Amino acid sequence: MGINIGDIVRGKIIDFTHEGNGVLKIDNFTVFVTGAIIGDEVVARIDKIKKNFAIGSVVDIIEPSKDRIALDFDIPEARGGVPLIEYKYSKQLEWKKNKVKIDLAKIVGLMDIEVKDTIGMEYPFRYRNHVQIPVGEKNGNTVIGFYEINSNDIVDMDSSILQPEIGDRIINIIRTWMNKYNIRPYDKKNKKGILRHIGIRINKDNKAMVILVIGSDRLPNEKELVKMLIEEDVISIYQNINKLNSSITYGKEYRKLYGEDRLLDYIGDYKFYLSPNSFFQVNRIQAEVLYNKVVEYLAPDKYDVIYDLYCGIGTISLYIASNVEKVYGIEIVKEAIEDAKENAVLNNIDNTEFIVGKAEEVFPKLMKRGIKGNKVVLDPPRKGCEKEVLEAVVELNPEKVVYVSCNSATMARDVKYLVENGYKVEEVQPVDMFPHTVHVECVVGIQKI
Ligand SMILES: C[S@@+](CC[C@H](N)C(=O)[O-])C[C@H]1O[C@@H](n2cnc3c(N)ncnc32)[C@H](O)[C@@H]1O
Repeated sequence: MGINIGDIVRGKIIDFTHEGNGVLKIDNFTVFVTGAIIGDEVVARIDKIKKNFAIGSVVDIIEPSKDRIALDFDIPEARGGVPLIEYKYSKQLEWKKNKVKIDLAKIVGLMDIEVKDTIGMEYPFRYRNHVQIPVGEKNGNTVIGFYEINSNDIVDMDSSILQPEIGDRIINIIRTWMNKYNIRPYDKKNKKGILRHIGIRINKDNKAMVILVIGSDRLPNEKELVKMLIEEDVISIYQNINKLNSSITYGKEYRKLYGEDRLLDYIGDYKFYLSPNSFFQVNRIQAEVLYNKVVEYLAPDKYDVIYDLYCGIGTISLYIASNVEKVYGIEIVKEAIEDAKENAVLNNIDNTEFIVGKAEEVFPKLMKRGIKGNKVVLDPPRKGCEKEVLEAVVELNPEKVVYVSCNSATMARDVKYLVENGYKVEEVQPVDMFPHTVHVECVVGIQKI
């Protein structure tokens, strides 16, 4: 249809996109409207036109959605980080459940899979225990904050509703240090400047690890910064070098500048050592909810031998180990496997074995060596499982598979494969690990027919 840049359109928002934009249908043409939520009746201006859709911004909200809430606090951070924040929390949870149902119905074609209500948080704020905050420049000034939705523009912030307060104080210390010593943000294009990201990991006791990602070879005035940071409860500081012209935050090279090698954190009664580059669930409270669901679906028994594929630092393996005979954890990141081994010792667990390598290579190899397992946990990254992993699961023929997913589209694809190969889905439980974002985490209980 004849829509052009600058046109003004009007209509009701019916859905959210993967980025959290509002979806507006004008006849059969789709416009993604930044800053609008489901139920809003808006007037929007068309800013960009793509082949099958356009992107617009709100000019006016003629009639606000009945599910729009007025916030009684400022959000200094970009809406890009919390696109649903003005949508009633109970409606966010409903929308997430529906998204999982739609992905399962569309991709798997199974309409009758039971998807439970999303388990939400009592206090859905300041829940992130790991943030990676971009540092950049705008009109000659340093900006530290998240990206604006649909853009590479950093919105300067001195506080984030997503991270514990100590994280806010750390950002402000780094800002003061940058101003005092004239430390410039790194510019990817010209390969000039110093600081490009600030990584902050905060444990249950509110102690922090800070990772300063730089595009240069060295961090000037490093001693001064360390001195300023340790006035707060910062117990570990790393420098990370990343000269890549890509959106990947952390480079490969880490150097410790101060304190502990690793951060000690907890999920439930279990303790975990985290290296600066280890994967750890970002929402500790909901991770416990998630893992308890894994245990429930797995129904562990003392004779069980379990494969925990994509095990990270061994969190799920250790969480279930005391109820079973043996757990094999497989993970691609070498440091995470080292952490997993130490975490087993730390938790007095001696029936786990952690192996480094690609799940699609190591898992079939272990099976060929005759290592049987009767239950499998799959917790892959967003792109889901490699086909070889799913084929090997079917060959192993376990009585139960528990699939943990942070991407319901790839989860649906992988579950479909298992359903076509002798398995049935018992139940799907969405857990809200990321309030105010469009992300949904799910646990799927799958059983041999
Ligand atoms: C979503 S995380 C799950 C980690 C862990 N289960 C937990 O709950 O903390 C996915 C993990 O898979 C790992 N990974 C990615 N690709 C992999 C592969 N091909 N083989 C094995 N592990 C992989 C990542 O390094 C990451 O630790």
